[in-house]
Amino acid sequence: MNPLAGKSILLGITGSIAAYKAADLASKLAQNGAKVNTILTEAATKFISPLTFQSVTGERAYTDTDLWGNEAHVLHVGLAHHADLMIIAPASATTMAKLAQGNADNLLTLTALAYGTGHEQPLLIAPAMDAGMFGHAATQANVQTLIMRGATFIGPEEGHLASGLVAKGRMTEPITILGHIRHTLASDGPLLGKKVVVTAGGTQEDLDPVRYITNRSSGKQGYAVAQAALDAGAAVTLITTPTKITPPVGVELVPVRHAAEMLKAVRLAIQEAEVLIMAAAVADFRPAQVAAQKIKKGTEPLALSLERTVDILKEVNAVRQTSGFPKFVVGFAAETQDLLKNAQNKLQAKGLDMIVANDVSAPEAGFGVETNRVTILTATDQDDLHLQSKLEVAESIIHKVIRKMTI
Ligand code: CTP
Repeated sequence: MNPLAGKSILLGITGSIAAYKAADLASKLAQNGAKVNTILTEAATKFISPLTFQSVTGERAYTDTDLWGNEAHVLHVGLAHHADLMIIAPASATTMAKLAQGNADNLLTLTALAYGTGHEQPLLIAPAMDAGMFGHAATQANVQTLIMRGATFIGPEEGHLASGLVAKGRMTEPITILGHIRHTLASDGPLLGKKVVVTAGGTQEDLDPVRYITNRSSGKQGYAVAQAALDAGAAVTLITTPTKITPPVGVELVPVRHAAEMLKAVRLAIQEAEVLIMAAAVADFRPAQVAAQKIKKGTEPLALSLERTVDILKEVNAVRQTSGFPKFVVGFAAETQDLLKNAQNKLQAKGLDMIVANDVSAPEAGFGVETNRVTILTATDQDDLHLQSKLEVAESIIHKVIRKMTI
């Protein structure tokens, strides 16, 4: 399901100190199952060796010396035509100028010309240069030309530059570039054109201006579900409480904190959504009063009065009786006992199409850890999944949603 698996990626590296980061990008692409061919300009080889790329990709790294080798007459055409996606990272001002002009005086620009403009197949460009050079009218004109023809730019970002300046010119981090590539390649998945809403994290119910009540949910499973839905080509809205996780590239992020905010965000997002997946651990109770000032300790024990929050899934069920949206609703059941019985009850009581039952007391499953063991239930069947990564669990959930929706 990973859109990178089995894809052929052509990575161009140009002369910039950020070239060392391209090795990390190449390695990440290869680890995700892509076949990565690299082309280094002569300037790039002054910063990093082709051998580095050969070592991390297991594929040949090409340089201008290959221009005059035995395969030279078709090399650029072959590399261009076998690629599912071309990315130039880092892209120097010189290379961008050459691309804009159609100047093909080295193997990289020659191959880029044979590859196309970005309209037919994706051409991604991640610039790296000093801020003044990026802001220069000549460079900006080249950027506009390339965008107009179909190229997609990633960055540059604000940050420390080789010149000592802190300004816009740093190459985007490899992990984010990887996310862009993944998102670009996912654009022909089975959920293309479908909107999927995912909730994640544990809600935070305020007690006073400095304290809140929450739970141990890390948000990892919900974020993985959002990634798996993106990988399947969906337009994904991720409604999330604060977490330590970097959101997947391509999601529409809606930050919330309380159950009440999450309810409001869900109501808005589900209008015309095909699927809602409620992976968030929503508080069932909140403090009946939120103190306007910090509660001081005093001498007496402190008694908290809690009131019920709204059950978001029950509200959603009521909404969809009239609107018909979302068409498919998935809940999670976080349990410490009677897992399947409790999950079955929630499936019915909340009007769900599917529920993911999760024993959160197991050490290698549930809150905070990287793995999960779940059972996916519908009214008619049950899948007991073995222990696997949260992304694999998420992929199984999305697969099942797709299967059930098309029945
Ligand atoms: N949920 C919800 N609104 C709430 C509480 C939970 O929509 N106020 C959703 C969760 O996102 C999850 C499902 O309901 O998808 C089940 O949540 P869980 O905490 O397992 O169950 P509860 O309904 O809260 O019941 P209990 O805590 O009694 O087990």
